[in-house]
Amino acid sequence: MLKSSNLYFVSSNSHKFEEVSQILASLKIEIKFINSELEEIQSNSLKDIAERKAKDAFKKFKKPLIIEDAGLFIDSLNGFPGPYSSYVFKTIGNKGILNLVKTKRDATFFSLITYCDKKITKTFEGKLKGKISFSSKGNGWGYDPIFIPSNSKNTMGQTNIKNNFSHRSKSLKKFSKWYLDMLESTGQ
Ligand code: IMP
Repeated sequence: MLKSSNLYFVSSNSHKFEEVSQILASLKIEIKFINSELEEIQSNSLKDIAERKAKDAFKKFKKPLIIEDAGLFIDSLNGFPGPYSSYVFKTIGNKGILNLVKTKRDATFFSLITYCDKKITKTFEGKLKGKISFSSKGNGWGYDPIFIPSNSKNTMGQTNIKNNFSHRSKSLKKFSKWYLDMLESTGQ
């Protein structure tokens, strides 16, 4: 049975919410959506960005919540687009990334989930290594069609089991373990 809780996910990205709610449901946690665009500070650290976003969201909505900051870090581009992944996707898109990446194609997806309530701000990290494909393949959203996870021949846009192994599922697994323990220890 789902642990019905008073937990919210704040984001303007409905794809993310769909994945987050499915992954958390499989970990027995129910989550509600607040569809809201949060301002992002400029920083090279996903953790700093995520924690500031979570604190701002808590100030605004005054409910226990999680937010996510994610990014694609390409080795041969010194980690670009990294913290700027969302902006880069909107500007040059997957075609632009494919034009930039030449021979060395290794890349890593990071997902940072930050929980925030009145007393606690805590961040959980998940990462997924892989490679940038030579062309865009499959569906999905964002960089899914150009990212091939290690040990796979297909892009994330070509699989329907992304939630079993994604960077997001790894950060949420860590979060869920801590969160369920915290609820239990505080008698909630
Ligand atoms: P942010 O977390 O909203 O700052 O955005 C990170 C950006 O990275 C998103 O806008 C997507 O373009 C990309 N991204 C993050 N996670 C994924 C994913 O699971 N699949 C595809 N693209 C992703």
